[in-house]
Order: sequence, then structure tokens, then C-alpha cells
Amino acid sequence: MNPKKTDYPDCCKHLSTGDARPARCSETEMTQMVLPNDGNIFGNALGGMVMHWADMAAAIAARRFCGTGVVTASIDSLSFINPIPVGQVARLRAKVTWCGRTSMEVRVDVEAEDLDAREVRPTSVAYLTFVSLDEQGKPTPVPRLVLETDEEKAEHEAAEKRREARLKLREQTRPR
Ligand SMILES: CC(C)(COP(=O)(O)OP(=O)(O)OC[C@H]1O[C@@H](n2cnc3c(N)ncnc32)[C@H](O)[C@@H]1OP(=O)(O)O)[C@@H](O)C(=O)NCCC(=O)NCCS
Repeated sequence: MNPKKTDYPDCCKHLSTGDARPARCSETEMTQMVLPNDGNIFGNALGGMVMHWADMAAAIAARRFCGTGVVTASIDSLSFINPIPVGQVARLRAKVTWCGRTSMEVRVDVEAEDLDAREVRPTSVAYLTFVSLDEQGKPTPVPRLVLETDEEKAEHEAAEKRREARLKLREQTRPR
């Protein structure tokens, strides 16, 4: 059977260096059943497992946005507000919030869905930075980010401050 084309809107399809694209082109949703093997001794999803899922969802969002392979440069401010019990569903939503020359910041919101009670509650928020790489594995320019909503503009403004703090921290925590 022939592969089916993805149903991206036109503005999200074609890219050449210097193109601009809306943040919404990066939107990614991931749904994960939390199994016993994903859990800690308290019967909740392990923090490291949530980090792994967040990294995956964010990498897909970044790659959808820039169209090249990406690597995770940093993960910051991953807070765990509520646990996700084994047996519930982890729902992750990721979206690019900021772009530099070759790097992108992605926000990931994580929720726990209780399929019995039919309730959803927020559990984590994470910000990750990805770098777009060319075929030689070197950082390569990403498209310009088009901000369409007030929420996106506010996120972008806050992201500028996070980036400053992140780069300062990188200088202070270089490996010996
Ligand atoms: C991330 C990586 C590609 C950066 O390479 P580099 O030689 O430092 O490249 P540069 O200094 O030109 O930085 C490239 C971009 O990354 C950003 N960057 C680098 N390290 C960063 C960090 N720790 N946090 C946030 N941004 C970072 C730079 O600010 C720059 O952004 P800009 O182009 O938008 O201004 C390189 O450090 C690397 O390959 N790291 C390992 C990645 C990895 O293995 N990840 C885990 C598996 S996916």
C-alpha cells in the first residue's frame, strides 16, 4: 500500500532556509498508558519516565517545526506538580515557544487522565531546548517563528529571559 501524505496545513509543509512558520505547525500530542513497569514504589510514573516522554514529544514538535534532525541541548524547569498513577494515561502537549538562529525552545504540558473518573489534571510543565542539525551533524538555521496569539507572544517574551538564564547557567556548569 502507498504511504498517505501527512495532513499538515500548507504553511507547515514546505521549507527553505529563512522561511517563517507559525508556532502551531509544531503542535504535538502524545498519549501514554502508564504501566507498572513505568512506575516507582509508590505506584506513580517515575520522574525519569515522564522526562523521557516529555523529551520525545518535544523533539517531535521541534522537528515538525524546523524540518531537520534535532538534538536536545538542555532540559530546564521540569516541575512535578501532581503524580501520574499507574493505570492512568499521561497526556503530553508540546509546542515551540521561541527560536534563535539554530535553537528552539519547546514547552511541554503533561496531564494525567483518569479513565474511570473521566477526569484530567495537570501534572508537569517542562521547557526543553533543541538544536537543528544538518546532514554533517552541525547546527543549522531554523525557520523564523511566527507568533499568532497573545498567549504565544507572552510565552515568547518569557522565553527570552529563560534563554538568558540558561546560557548563564551553561557557562557556570561547564564540565571540568
Ligand atoms: C547542542 C549542541 C549541538 C550545541 O553545539 P555547539 O557546538 O555548542 O553549538 P553552538 O555554540 O553554535 O550552539 C548552537 C545553538 O545551541 C544553543 N545551545 C547550546 N547549548 C545550549 C544549552 N545548554 N542550552 C540552551 N541552548 C544551547 C546555542 O545558544 C545556539 O543557539 P542559537 O544558534 O539559536 O543562538 C552540542 O553541544 C551537542 O551536540 N550536544 C549533545 C547533544 C545530545 O547528545 N543530546 C542528547 C541526545 S538527543
